[in-house]
Amino acid sequence: MNAFHGKRFVLGVTGGVAAYKAAELARLLVKAGAEVDVVLTAAGSRFVGAVTFQALTGRPVWQSLWDERMDNGMAHIDLTRGAAALLVAPATADFLAKLTHGFADDLLTTLCLARDCPLLVAPAMNRQMWENPATQRNVEQLSADGVIILGPAEGDQACGETGAGRMFEAAELFDDLHAFIQPKLLAGKRVLLTAGPTFEPLDPVRGLTNSSSGKMGFALARACAEAGAEVTLVAGPVALATPRGVTRLDVQTALQMREEVLQNLSGQDVFIAVAAVADYRPRQLEEHKIKKKTVPRTLGLEPNPDILAEVATRADAPFCVGFAAESHDLEKYAEAKRAGKKLGLVVGNLIQDGLGCDTNRVILFDAEGAHPLLLADKATVAGRIVSHLANLLEKLHA
Ligand code: CTP
Repeated sequence: MNAFHGKRFVLGVTGGVAAYKAAELARLLVKAGAEVDVVLTAAGSRFVGAVTFQALTGRPVWQSLWDERMDNGMAHIDLTRGAAALLVAPATADFLAKLTHGFADDLLTTLCLARDCPLLVAPAMNRQMWENPATQRNVEQLSADGVIILGPAEGDQACGETGAGRMFEAAELFDDLHAFIQPKLLAGKRVLLTAGPTFEPLDPVRGLTNSSSGKMGFALARACAEAGAEVTLVAGPVALATPRGVTRLDVQTALQMREEVLQNLSGQDVFIAVAAVADYRPRQLEEHKIKKKTVPRTLGLEPNPDILAEVATRADAPFCVGFAAESHDLEKYAEAKRAGKKLGLVVGNLIQDGLGCDTNRVILFDAEGAHPLLLADKATVAGRIVSHLANLLEKLHA
C-alpha cells in the first residue's frame, strides 16, 4: 500500500487517554511512507510526551503558538500548508466545542481555523460526555461545516463504563485515512462481489473445495469501497477481516452464493466475480459422518451453476467482471472466458503468480485488448483494477 508515500499529515493530539493510540497511528503512517507533523495540546502532553511522538515521526513536535522554530514565526498557518489532511485524534469534548465555535486559543485550534486542507476528527470521551446534547449539537454542526467525524466506537471505556465514545483503534484510523485520500472514482456506484472458495459438503465433516485465500477479492472489495462505491461482498469460507464500509454476506456453498448474488443484484452497477466457485458438488449430502470403512471410492457429482455466466446473460445485467486463473496459455483462456461469458472485463493471472500470496501479477482483458499490470501487492493491484474499471464505466456512459 503506497498511497501514503510522499504525503504529509498533521496529527493533532488533545488530552484524552486515547492519546496512546495516536502514537501507534503516527508509527503506522510513518511506516507507510507518510510524513507526520504532530501538534500536541497542553492537555495531550499530560498523556503522551512530545519525545515519544518526535521519536516515532522523526520530526519536531509542535506545542505552542509562540514556537520560534518556524522561520517566519507562523507555525499556526504554515503547518497545514501542503498537508494532505489534518487529523485530530483523540478529539476531546472540549476540543470539539472549541472547534465548533471557532476558538483559536492554542496552536491546534488556530491551525484548524487557518487551514487549507481537509479536517478529520476522531472523538474520544466518556459515553455521557458523548451523548450530552451539547456534544451532539457540536458534532452535527462540525459535520455540516465539512469536518469529517471518524467514530466514535462503542465498547469498554477507560473510565470503566461501556458505551459510545471509544476512539477508533489506530489501525482503523489508518484505514479510514487511506480511504479518505483515494480518488472517488466509483462515487455513486453500487458494486457486488463474490470472493473466496466455496465448500461443498459430502457429510458433516468432509467436502469439496477450491484453493483460494479470498485475499484478491477482499482487496478489490476494499478498493471499490475506498473509491466511493457502495459495496456488497458475498464471501465463501475465508479467515479474513471485512474491509471497512463493506456489507459482507457469508456463504458456504455455490448454491448459497448464487442465491445471495441474485437476492442482491437489483440496482447494482457492477458485478465482480472473484470467487473460486467449486464447479461440482457431491450428488448426495449425508446427514451423518460417513465411517471410514464405508466412504465411497467413487463420488457422484452434480455440476454447480455458473453464477457469473448467469448474471452476465440477464436482461438487467450490470457491468460484469470475471477472473481467470490459469496454469498456462493465460491470454488464450482469459480471452475465451471474456467472449464466452459476455464480460466487460476479465482479470487474468497465472496461478503461480497469485495463489495464496500477498502479491499478484495480472493482465486485464477488455474489448480493446490485453493490458498487463506490473507485479504488486494485492491492494495496489486492486486499486489499478478499480481505475481501469472506472475508465470503462465512464466510456460506457459517455
Ligand atoms: N464463476 C462463477 N460461478 C461458477 C464458476 C465460476 O461465478 N460456478 C466465475 C468465477 O468467479 C470467475 C470466473 O467465473 O470470475 C471463472 O470462470 P470459469 O470459466 O468458471 O473458470 P474455471 O472454473 O477455472 O473454468 P476452466 O476450468 O474452464 O478454466
